[in-house]
Order: sequence, then C-alpha cells, then structure tokens
Amino acid sequence: MEIFDLVVIGGGPGGYLAAERAGHAGLKTAVIEKREFGGVCLNEGCVPSKTFLNSAKVFDYANHAENYGVKVDGKTSIDQKFVVERKNGVVKMLVNGVKATLKRNKVKTFSAEAFIEGKDAEGFAIKAGDEKIIAKRLIIATGSMPVVPPIPGLKENIATGLVLTNREILDLTEIPKTLTVIGGGVIGLEMASYFSSVGTKVTVVEMLGKIAGPTEAEISSILQKSLEKKGVIFNLGAKVTAIEADGVVYEKDGKTEKIVSEKILLSIGRRAVTQGFGLENLSVNLERGAIVTDDQMRTNIANVYAVGDVNGKVMLAHTAYREAEVAVNTILGKKDAMRYNVIPSVIYTNPEVGSVGETEESAKAKGLDVKCVNIPLTYSGRYIAENSDLNGICKLVINKKTNTLIGAHVIGSYSGEYIVAVSAMIDLEVDIENIKKLVFPHPTVCEIVREAIFQI
Ligand code: NAI
Repeated sequence: MEIFDLVVIGGGPGGYLAAERAGHAGLKTAVIEKREFGGVCLNEGCVPSKTFLNSAKVFDYANHAENYGVKVDGKTSIDQKFVVERKNGVVKMLVNGVKATLKRNKVKTFSAEAFIEGKDAEGFAIKAGDEKIIAKRLIIATGSMPVVPPIPGLKENIATGLVLTNREILDLTEIPKTLTVIGGGVIGLEMASYFSSVGTKVTVVEMLGKIAGPTEAEISSILQKSLEKKGVIFNLGAKVTAIEADGVVYEKDGKTEKIVSEKILLSIGRRAVTQGFGLENLSVNLERGAIVTDDQMRTNIANVYAVGDVNGKVMLAHTAYREAEVAVNTILGKKDAMRYNVIPSVIYTNPEVGSVGETEESAKAKGLDVKCVNIPLTYSGRYIAENSDLNGICKLVINKKTNTLIGAHVIGSYSGEYIVAVSAMIDLEVDIENIKKLVFPHPTVCEIVREAIFQI
C-alpha cells in the first residue's frame, strides 16, 4: 500500500490549494475528489455565477447605452444557451488549470470517492475508490451543500426540477418568465441580480427584515433599492411554509400568501459535508454539524486537519485558501495561524458590494469606541464618469483609541477589486495619519478610501 505524507479529501479551493502547497514543499501528497477538481467554487458557485453576472452587466450596458452616447439599433436580447456554453468553457479552462498545477507540484490525484477506514500504527487507512492508501496526515476539505429544510413539498419539487439550487440554476439554458428566490443572502441576491437583468420577473422571499445578512445596514438598503429599480420584488419578514407544483407559499404578518412561479431558487444557506466518507471512524469533534478546528486548522484528533466550508467558520473560497496554507504550514512546523477578523467579502450584484471588518453596529456591540465616515462615491471622478446610477457610498469604521481602520463597506463599481487594499490597512493596523500619506492612482474609484480618510 502506498504511504503518503499527506492525503487531502476534497478537491475544492481548500483541498486543491492544500495539496498544491504541500506538494510544492516536498511532501508526498495525494488529493481525492469524487466529482470535479475545483469543487463548488469553480464548477457551480463563485466562478460560473460571475460569468453569468458579467453577461448581465454587458446586457445592462447595452440597454442603457444611450446614457453614454452609444446608439444600439434594435432590441437587445440574451442568448442564454450561449451564456451557459461560455460559462462551461470558463469552468473547463480553470479546472484544467487546477489539474495542471497539481501535476506540476507532483500531487497524486484520485478521481474517486474517499472513505476513511480507520487508523493504525502506520497512519490513516483510506480508500480512494478501489485503491487503498495510507495517510500519515489527513486534511478534510469536503466542503458544504445547500441546506434543505423540512418544508412540505420541497424535496418533491427539487426532484421535479421546479426548485433549483446553485448547481442547477447555473445550467438553465432558458430564461424563466418568473423566478422566486427563497433566501435573500449572497446566492439569492446574485441570482436575483442576473435574472432580473435578463428579463425574469424575480421575487425574493426573506425571513429576516433585511437582505444580505450581516452586510452593513445602509449598504443593504441601497442594494435592495437598486435591485427593486431593476424590477425585483422583496418580501421581507416572510417565512416559506410550503412548496406547491406551481409556486411558493409563505406567511407574512400572520397572513398566508402564494407566489406562482415558473422556477424557484433555494438559497437559504449551506451546511458542512461530514457524512458518507467514514469521518465517524476517527471520532472527530463536530459542533452544529461542522468539524471543530483551532486557529491552526487542527481537529481534536492528532494529524487530522479540516479546512474550508467543512469547518463552518467562514464559508468563502478565499477563507478556504488561507486555511489550506495555515494547515500545510502547521504540518511543516512553520508558525502560522488564521485571523478571521479581516476576511473581505464581496457580493457581485450590480451594483457590487465590498466589505471587510467591523460594521458600526458590530463594533459598538463589542464595546469599541468608534467613529464612522460615510461619503457618497460621487467624490470619485471616475465613478461619475462611468456610471449613470450614482447611489454608491463608502463607509469607514475607525477605532478612536488606536486611530486605525477596523471596517470598510462600499457599494459601487470595482468595490470587490479594491476592498483588499483596505483589508491590508486593517490587518497591518496602519495609523490613519500614515494612510493619508499613501498615493492612490487618479482617477480611480478606489480614491474614495483616501477621500473618506480625509473626512475623519
Ligand atoms: P446565506 O447564508 O448568505 O443567506 C441565506 C438567507 O436565507 C439568509 O438571509 C436567511 O435569513 C434566509 N433564510 C433562511 N431560511 C429561510 C426561509 N425558510 N425562508 C426565507 N428565508 C430564509 O446563504 P446562501 O445565499 O445560500 O449562500 C450560501 C453560502 O455561499 C454563504 O456562506 C455565502 O457566503 C457563500 N457564497 C458566497 C458568495 C460570495 O462571496 N460572493 C456567492 C455565493 C455564495
């Protein structure tokens, strides 16, 4: 039986990056993936949804071309079949890239289902399909799957194809006339943004009183208004009670209502995948369905690590990347640890949202003495030059005691691209006076950070 220094179960962002880094460092490494390398992110999540959203952006521009002095003759229309084919091409290119990188780093890949049989003196006994291998160390990176609550009619209508998850919706080759989105979180909003742009009548049913979960309240409200302008209807404080063959039944303010819908998207969160691969044979501790890890990605079992969505900490691909590196560095005996307080997040709707760190609300809840600045993006020349809707804002949260930034929240073009600059300022605890001395390129939308800093 072949013995590996490290076996990684799951080939998504957490798993493939861990394998790449370990292989690069000279560990004899294997990674086992039962579906496609790249995981949910590359195949049915982050990347494919961005190809959809870029088509929507082009479509939106074409529909409003006159705002920029461009005449488009005739009616613009979307070729959804082409959008899906293009998406498949993008996915293929990236998945091939992952496979090539694993090969370059001498990682052995198994396209098979993994099963942990147990542990003996040599290491962990793992089955990769029909092959048996031994792992001296194990990284679990099995990811997450959509939460499917026990709502009457839900399971049956997933089977009929009426109800879709993130996986199936990204393969729709026809634009539905109507779409009801259950859950106004990140997946729901990105898909609402896409489908409303390309002509679907979209209704979002959200249990809470606001959309976009923990997003800063004012930004969440601007996002809601922008999507409403595109025709999206929001039913907030509404709880779905049943799915019928032609739509969604929900309760709001004590009344039962129904939305008739051609398609339904279920996007009410995801849960860690901890079953079906023999994890129970290791007695790994779980909490609320996810693997418990410390800040070095160690579980309660020696030489077993867990990275990515499976530890339920921050279900984002870029968190998984960093966790993968921390796990491998820990294995290599290099000092490293996760810092979860400065993980940026982006919602790729149009307009786009970029956030990092504390909101005013979360900082105050922690008892921090904060100051906030809130300015419109119209302080940026490039923003005005390139947009016809000028409702974007930038909000900074400053810790008065340390005179450093602890949060930034922006809605508007490119915010997802430059939020990392603010992450660095927060992470490195740069003094506000030193941020004032940084030179920002002009004209750019990211200059908004500099403008806001000078308003403090
Ligand atoms: P989510 O946790 O972002 O949002 C789920 C929403 O559903 C919440 O607002 C919740 O209040 C609502 N909800 C729950 N039960 C409900 C019910 N019965 N009726 C109505 N509303 C209900 O989850 P989502 O959108 O499914 O995304 C899953 C994961 O994928 C998240 O962890 C997210 O961070 C990640 N993701 C990240 C993206 C990004 O960074 N751009 C893009 C897509 C997904």
